[in-house]
Amino acid sequence: MKINGTPYRSVWLNEKDGWSVHIFDQTRLPFSLDILRLTTPQAVAHAICTMQVRGAPLIGAVAAYGLALALREDASDTSLENQASMLAATRPTAINLRWAIERMLTRLRPTPPAQRVAAAYEEAGRICDEDAAQNEAIGHYGLALIREIAKTKKAGSPINLLTHCNAGWIATVDWGTALAPIYMAHDEGLNVHVWVDETRPRNQGAALTAWELGSHGVPHTVIVDNAGGHLMQHGQVDMVIVGTDRVTRTGDVANKIGTYLKALAAHDNAIPFWVALPSTTIDWTVADGVQEIPIEERAASEVTHVSGKTAEGSVARVQITPDGSSAANPAFDVTPARLVTGLITERGTCPATAQGLRSLFPEI
Ligand code: MRU
Repeated sequence: MKINGTPYRSVWLNEKDGWSVHIFDQTRLPFSLDILRLTTPQAVAHAICTMQVRGAPLIGAVAAYGLALALREDASDTSLENQASMLAATRPTAINLRWAIERMLTRLRPTPPAQRVAAAYEEAGRICDEDAAQNEAIGHYGLALIREIAKTKKAGSPINLLTHCNAGWIATVDWGTALAPIYMAHDEGLNVHVWVDETRPRNQGAALTAWELGSHGVPHTVIVDNAGGHLMQHGQVDMVIVGTDRVTRTGDVANKIGTYLKALAAHDNAIPFWVALPSTTIDWTVADGVQEIPIEERAASEVTHVSGKTAEGSVARVQITPDGSSAANPAFDVTPARLVTGLITERGTCPATAQGLRSLFPEI
């Protein structure tokens, strides 16, 4: 996608040296667009843990490059296994991270150490290219759904979409999952408007989705996380579309905390609730998402404090709870498949059921 007319992906190799890894520091958005250069696997792990990079597909892609950086330092079997485990442990919920590491190991274990660095960069590059292509395909399938909604709208009235968290191009290598269809709909002239959940505690909606949509010229309105149900009751939401960090083989959906409540409200108001994902987000080993998907618990300070720009223009972090109050911070929740209208994948749409997923991915 483009920033000020220049095309970018959300991870890329340094053009001059050909090996160091660039990312945007997403903890600095929307106030500052800082590009980081990562040169060690430890720096990659730090970037994932601190959410300088985030979003399920992107952390997988960046971790794959992290393994390439590790092998530049030491390409032995021991290093390969240790650094892969270290990178895989950085965040627990998004399955793309473990998927990417497993794919790298499958390629690298049989490769002689002397050839591992080149093979690792090649495989990481492939993971990135495939992710971008899969998200573009998701965009086309999701666009078809938005076109159907457009047919039901009166001339001049907007198609109101609601999204939670950030499942845009900076959460993937390119395009995004939930936002890809929205970009395509906007680009072909459909009158889309997006309700952007702020997504406390880290505000990925207010900070990142709003920044992405604004940069692309897509009309949007940031709302507090609790506003969605009210808007749905009053006919102001035509469709909910979100991304996901892990989908079970039965269609349960783990995504940013608060997604489940949006699905409940959508169900109560008969509003379609779609989930967009590349197949790398499906965990074929898990059947019951609520019981089996590990939910990341993040620092209480993310709840007790918020960051924002002061009137003077500096970015400040302020406390919003009384001294001594404890805070809990589960970062994801699981929406049961029965609340999901359907899944949008790179191979098309399907019901959020085991049968639906099998029909698209019969080879698994
Ligand atoms: O904690 P985050 O910001 O990494 O969580 C991201 C999400 O929940 C996204 O919705 C999900 O990864 C899909 S990204 C295409």
